[in-house]
Amino acid sequence: MQPPQMHAPFEAADGVAVLPAWLPVPGMGVLPANAFLIEDREPILVDAGVGVLAEPFVAALRTLIAPERLRWIWLTHMDPDHTGALGELLSAAPEARLVTTFLGAGKLGLSGVSPERIQVVEAGETLALGARTVTAVRPPYFDAPETIGLADRDNGLLFCADAFGAVAAAPADSLGEAALAQGMAVWARLDTPWLGDLDPARFERALAQVAELSPRTVLSAHLPPARDMTAALLEAARTAQQASRAPRAAAA
Ligand SMILES: [Fe+2]
Ligand SMILES: [Fe+2]
Repeated sequence: MQPPQMHAPFEAADGVAVLPAWLPVPGMGVLPANAFLIEDREPILVDAGVGVLAEPFVAALRTLIAPERLRWIWLTHMDPDHTGALGELLSAAPEARLVTTFLGAGKLGLSGVSPERIQVVEAGETLALGARTVTAVRPPYFDAPETIGLADRDNGLLFCADAFGAVAAAPADSLGEAALAQGMAVWARLDTPWLGDLDPARFERALAQVAELSPRTVLSAHLPPARDMTAALLEAARTAQQASRAPRAAAA
């Protein structure tokens, strides 16, 4: 089996770089594992890399920015594919504050992170991070209760944590419609196995919140950056939810 791999950063949108890794999923393909750097007056790192790739993650980050310039590290949740280099970054970026929810702050506290380093937000709150105004957003589906994404409406960006992730046949920057829906269903079955139990009308309301934000670029941790394809993502998520329901319906 191939080990997880860090790849070279690339631009996802104006002022936003992806720090991409690929994780092999045995027998299924590979899963992207992205963090993002928002370059601004107060630079924001969204997530902190994959645990086993902490060293190459920090090296890749250093090709984009001196870590001591970071002012914010937005942690979408505490899974080890999102917080892998956090220990290193707490030292390398002493001015950076960690943004997370109340529950996320509790989890960080259990890891020994000082409360002074933490800024707590909850879904719906708006924060001014330097020149940028962002809104904390609960993604339509997630695998950890502290999960919090962010929307930058002025720049048409939505960072949505694990939502819309897809396992792909091979590392690629674009997936066809069928491969996207199929890969999203595979990932949803693994990562959010409750999705099929969710009332479709309720899921539709959660997806409608994304549609209302109408992001130009959707930045999932587990999908290549998706530009101008929000409607296709929402449709693939519907298909993934239906696929998750299917075995139960057949068994009934
Ligand atoms: Fe996760
Ligand atoms: Fe994840």
